[in-house]
Parts: sequence; structure tokens; C-alpha cells
Amino acid sequence: MNISVLNGPNLNLLGQREPEIYGSTTLDDIQTRMLNYINDNSVVLEFMQSNKEHELVEVIQSVMGKENQFIIINPAAFTHTSVAIRDALQATKIPFIEVHLSNIYAREDFRKKSYFSDIAMGTISGLGANGYLLALNHLLTLKK
Ligand code: DQA
Repeated sequence: MNISVLNGPNLNLLGQREPEIYGSTTLDDIQTRMLNYINDNSVVLEFMQSNKEHELVEVIQSVMGKENQFIIINPAAFTHTSVAIRDALQATKIPFIEVHLSNIYAREDFRKKSYFSDIAMGTISGLGANGYLLALNHLLTLKK
């Protein structure tokens, strides 16, 4: 099983960015926690963060057609704007879980619209860094 963990703009600042909303865990900490969580050599986790929409589109296209490929994605601000990333996920048909650290439904109105939720396997929002581990846990239960 291959799992790409994709993070959108400003998530490179996790830990120092509005910790009252996003917590004090850094993206590196999240990656370490995810890697420690799997004790199975047949699961390959790949991490990528970008502030650029086209780079996220390209990485999604680059794993197209790989067997047993899944994506965990926090599109960050692109959640509320990006038809391009949505289209990439839909075009490649890669099953994905949408994760948000904060509860996007309990914040400003513009955050309540996600371009991803209706085509995601599921969405986890508001459970902080644990959301990534919960998404990973779910994918591991699907492993054949
Ligand atoms: C976020 C929520 C988005 O609204 C915001 O733009 C982010 C992070 C979250 O993880 O809570 O950058 O996706």
C-alpha cells in the first residue's frame, strides 16, 4: 500500500502558525508520528507540502495508476478555492481522505465550503494532528 500525505499552503508553518487554532505540533512531528504508527514494511508513506497549487496537482498526477495508492490530503486554504486540485483527484480516481486540523465548520463562513468533501472517502476536521493518524488508521484497516 502506498499512501501520499499531501499538505497545502502555510502548513509548513505548523507549530508557530496560530497555535490556538492549529496546535503546537509541527509538520515534521506529524510525519514522525505517522511513520512510527505503521510497523509494516508493505506500507510506504510519502510526504509532500507545497504552497503552490500546480505542485499539488502534479504530485497527484505523478502517483496516478500506481497500484494500491491512497492519498491523505490537507489542502489547507485550497480546500475552499481549488477546482484544479479537486479535478486532479477526480481525474486520477485516487481514493483520498481529507484532513483538517481545525473544525472548518466552526469558523468563518468561507471555510465551510470544501471543494473536496463530496468526493472524499471521508473527512476528518477539528481533531488536530490526530486527524492524520486517524486517517492513516482507517487506510490500514483496508489493507489486504
Ligand atoms: C486547514 C483549514 C483551512 O481553512 C486553512 O486555510 C488552513 C488549514 C486546517 O487544517 O484546519 O490552512 O486546512
